[in-house]
Amino acid sequence: MRIVLIGSGGRDHALALKLAGNSALEKLFVIPGNSGTRQIAWNIPISIDDHDKILSFCMEHDINLVIVGPEKPLTDGLADKLREGGLRVFGPSKNAARIEGEKSFAKRIMKEYKIPTAGFEIFDKENYEEAINYLHKISYPTVIKADGIAAGKGVIIAETFDDAREALKECFINCSFGSAGDKVVIEEFMSGQEASIFAITDGKDFLLLPAAQDHKRIFDEDRGRNTGGMGAYAPTPFVSDSDYDLIADKVIEPLLKGLREEGAPFIGCLYCGLMMTDEGPKVVEFNCRFGDPETQVVMPLLDGDFIELLNSSASGRINKKAVRYNGGASVCVVASSKGYPGKYEKGFEICGLENLPESTKVYFAGIREENGKLFTDGGRVLNITSFTEKNDLREAKRIAYEALKKISFEGMHYRLDISDKALK
Ligand code: AMP
Ligand code: GLY
Repeated sequence: MRIVLIGSGGRDHALALKLAGNSALEKLFVIPGNSGTRQIAWNIPISIDDHDKILSFCMEHDINLVIVGPEKPLTDGLADKLREGGLRVFGPSKNAARIEGEKSFAKRIMKEYKIPTAGFEIFDKENYEEAINYLHKISYPTVIKADGIAAGKGVIIAETFDDAREALKECFINCSFGSAGDKVVIEEFMSGQEASIFAITDGKDFLLLPAAQDHKRIFDEDRGRNTGGMGAYAPTPFVSDSDYDLIADKVIEPLLKGLREEGAPFIGCLYCGLMMTDEGPKVVEFNCRFGDPETQVVMPLLDGDFIELLNSSASGRINKKAVRYNGGASVCVVASSKGYPGKYEKGFEICGLENLPESTKVYFAGIREENGKLFTDGGRVLNITSFTEKNDLREAKRIAYEALKKISFEGMHYRLDISDKALK
C-alpha cells in the first residue's frame, strides 16, 4: 500500500505511527506532516488547502489510499475532489462533513431520526428578537452554539438569561464568530460524564472503537478556559457494554441511515461526542474525523490490521474483523505553552525526550526541529501517551506522569488529573 495521510497535529502523528508499523505499507507520505511524522514517513510540504496539488501528488505517486485527518479539508471538499480523480479516500464528502461543519444540520437529522440529544431551537440572525423571546421562556443553564466551525470557541454555557442574551449578542451583533455565528442553536443543558467514541464506517456498516474521555479545560478539575484538549484516556468506564449497544443502535445506525437518505453517505471516522446522562447516552456533537487527543489513546488499544480496516471502509465494504480491542489502557497528557489557550510565546528548547520508557510514546503537536534540536512552536506542544497491556488505568496514568517528569521546556504546563474521573 502507498498511502497519503493529510494532517500535521498530534492526532496525525499517532495515526502515522499506527500506519507505519503495518507490514502492508510500502510507503507513507504525510501532507504536510510535522517533525514527528518526519521520523517515520515522508513529509510533503503541500498546503492542506491546495486541493489541486494534493490530487496531482497522489496521481503522480500511485497512491492506493488517502486518509484525511483534520476537518477543514473535509468540509472544504477535498475527499470529493480526490474521489473524482479516481482515488480511494478514507474521509467523508463535503456534504457528509456538514455533520460537523453545520450544527443545525446535525440537530435536524438527529431530530428526524429520533437520535437522543439535547432539545433545541435554531435561530437566524434575522430572528434576533424571536430568539430573545425564546430565552425568556426556557430554564437555565442553557447552551448557545454558533452554527459553524468556530475553532472550539463557539459553545457558550449560559447560567442565566443575561449570560444567554450576551452570548446571542456575541453571535448576531458583534459577529465574534464571523459567519459561523449567523445562525445559532440554543439547546438544553445536559449533565453527566462525557465520552467520545469513533465509528469507523463504509457508509452503512460500522465498527465502534473503545470509548475515550477528553479533558477540554486548561486547568485541573475542569477549571479555566476550553482548549483543543489537554489529555484523554481510554477505555472509559463510563461507557458500559450495554451503552456500546445502545450507541450503535440508537445513534450511529440511524445517523448513517439519515445521511444516506440525505444523499450524503458518510465514509470515514464518525466522531460521536456523548453525554452519559441518567436517561442514557445523548449526543453532544458529531465530528467528521478522528478526535484529538482521543486518537492518541485509542490507537495503542487496537490489535490487528488498521490499514485493512480503513482501506476496506474506504472501498465500501468494511472488514470489521480487521482490528480488535487488545484489552489494554492508555493515558495521554498534553504539555502546552504558558499562556495557552490565550497568547503564548514559542521557540523554547524541549529537553528530555530521549530514554523514555518503552510503554510511552511522544506525539508531536506544536514542535519545530532545527539542527537536530526541538523547539516549542504552538500552544499544545506534545502529547505523552502511555499504555498498559492490561486495562489498568492507574498504572497507565503513573507511567505517563513519570515520563513527563523527564521532559522540560520553559513555561511547560500540563494537567495533573488526566483520567482521575475514572479512578475515583
Ligand atoms: P462542542 O463544541 O459541541 O463539543 O461543545 C464543547 C463542550 O461544551 C462539550 O464538550 C461539553 O462539555 C459542552 N456542551 C456542549 N453542549 C452541551 C449541552 N447541551 N449540555 C452540557 N454541556 C454541553
Ligand atoms: N477532542 C475533541 C475533538 O477532536 O474535537
